[in-house]
Amino acid sequence: MTQVHEDGLGPAPRLGLLVAGSAAEGLSARLDPHVPIEDVRLGKFVKITGQKYEYFCLVTDVQLDAANADVLRDPPGDPSTVDSFLRQVLNGTTTYATLKLKPELMLANPATDVILDASDLVPRPARTIPPHFSNVSEATAADFERVFGRDDGQTHFQIGQPIDMDVPVCLDLRRFVERSNGIFGKSGTGKSFLTRLILCGVIRAQQAVNLIFDMHSEYGWSAKNEEGTEVKGLSQLFGGRVAVYTLDMESSRGRGVRPAGEIKIALRELSVGDIALLQDELKLHRTAVESAALCEDKLGDDWAARLLGMSGDELQEFAGAEGGNHASLAALRSKLRMIDRLPFVERTLAHSTLDELIARLERGHHVVLEFGRQRSMLAYILAANVITRRLHDLWVSKTEHYWNTKDESDRPRPLMITIEEAHKFLNADAAHQTTFGTIARELRKFYVTLLVVDQRPSGIDAEVLSQIGTRITCQLNDDRDIDAIFTGVSGGPHLRSVLATLDSREQALVLGHAVPMPMMVRTRKYDPTFYAAVASATSDAPAALAARARRYEEIFGADV
Ligand SMILES: Nc1ncnc2c1ncn2[C@@H]1O[C@H](COP(=O)(O)OP(=O)(O)OP(=O)(O)O)[C@@H](O)[C@H]1O
Ligand SMILES: [Mg+2]
Repeated sequence: MTQVHEDGLGPAPRLGLLVAGSAAEGLSARLDPHVPIEDVRLGKFVKITGQKYEYFCLVTDVQLDAANADVLRDPPGDPSTVDSFLRQVLNGTTTYATLKLKPELMLANPATDVILDASDLVPRPARTIPPHFSNVSEATAADFERVFGRDDGQTHFQIGQPIDMDVPVCLDLRRFVERSNGIFGKSGTGKSFLTRLILCGVIRAQQAVNLIFDMHSEYGWSAKNEEGTEVKGLSQLFGGRVAVYTLDMESSRGRGVRPAGEIKIALRELSVGDIALLQDELKLHRTAVESAALCEDKLGDDWAARLLGMSGDELQEFAGAEGGNHASLAALRSKLRMIDRLPFVERTLAHSTLDELIARLERGHHVVLEFGRQRSMLAYILAANVITRRLHDLWVSKTEHYWNTKDESDRPRPLMITIEEAHKFLNADAAHQTTFGTIARELRKFYVTLLVVDQRPSGIDAEVLSQIGTRITCQLNDDRDIDAIFTGVSGGPHLRSVLATLDSREQALVLGHAVPMPMMVRTRKYDPTFYAAVASATSDAPAALAARARRYEEIFGADV
């Protein structure tokens, strides 16, 4: 691993000199002979020092080159013989290595005496290229901080370190919560761990209120890592600020969790959209959705319970009177029984714990909804869709109210909804029917965004994917999934080769809205050191507020 120049003041280790390239195709640098080629990884973050600007680039390829083709026709022999000396003589003169670099950002060169605009002092996309023979060097810790910011517990959160250095790489949380985001990767690559890390960052910084649909019961209370050791859940780290609700009280209690409540869903919450979404899960015929629409139209909100309650004759009569297809209505009714049999679905509900859950979110608490043994896709899709629809409707009306009053205290709190197996809700068919699809397409107009976690990004509708602000991608093997990740990303082909070098676990490529440039990271360890960091920052927050209040009191007197 590279030694870091902690203060960033010393000269960064030189890697080579810029020799060729173009703004469109990327740049080429000749590697200095003393730099071992085997130390240069794809995805490495390097800096080119131009006259006016510094350019931050990713290494996208490394090539072996020779100045004289004859040497390749008559190469030196076995390295164990005297020819190793010949290799050394040739290295750097006749044979050399070329780095392919993709400039991502440019920033004023602190050493320049040219007067630049204020806008040059913040990183912006590279639109020019540096001149011939500019110095190419490793980025220092200070360079990383200039580009990615510093983990301050509020606006920036360290998500990991570069693959070959020990310096923080941060997400800008303010930008992160502005758009819907995705965490992708094949099974076992670390998606759930990454999701937990990022949720900790967002909760600690209070950048958004979170609702997490926790299909595998691994976010709220403890989960196990691959070695079988327990890791902490969000409610253990954040205490009362994160409430766990459950669809399966017995399972949650059995795991030692004390949920804030058990969620039951009334049949009257079921809409035609839910039926359409559950078409695959319930193996429904196409006409079933039309039949459901007819029932909703004629029987009102309680259509599902009323349909289930009809006798054979009543159904026949209803079909005849309303012009429905009897066979299709009967089939729909028999499939509705599968929903009716779910333990958390009730025909009538006296008291709605769902209202309680929603009220908590409105108060700014975070909620994890555990599914316990209710892990069937039917249960997951139904519960997540019904609850999200309610929340979205509420946030839309809050936003409209805020637009009317323009009073800052009416501005809704940003709400982030975390959903695993996202392609089930956001595939090309479903994305146009579900609230999840609507949320993804609306950006954050109504202050609701998604954190989608998925193994199969190619299963997500292309339009939805193009709205995903920040993509955090662990290893993927399927070409279609890789294509999906780079949909609409400039420089996609360069980044493909970088993505291909990720290890099978705990490494990710981060790109998009919350980072100024794409970056490969080793994900931050989710372990006791991390818990301590979160706890200290969390307990610091009230202390910092109290200190600020005391300071105001000193200045303005106790009344303020
Ligand atoms: N940041 C991390 N800190 C500590 N351990 C990690 C981290 N990321 C991944 N791991 C290890 O890798 C294992 C797999 O990670 P995880 O469960 O997050 O994978 P996943 O991508 O969610 O898999 P699946 O798709 O099957 O749900 C974990 O059990 C843990 O041992
Ligand atoms: Mg997982």
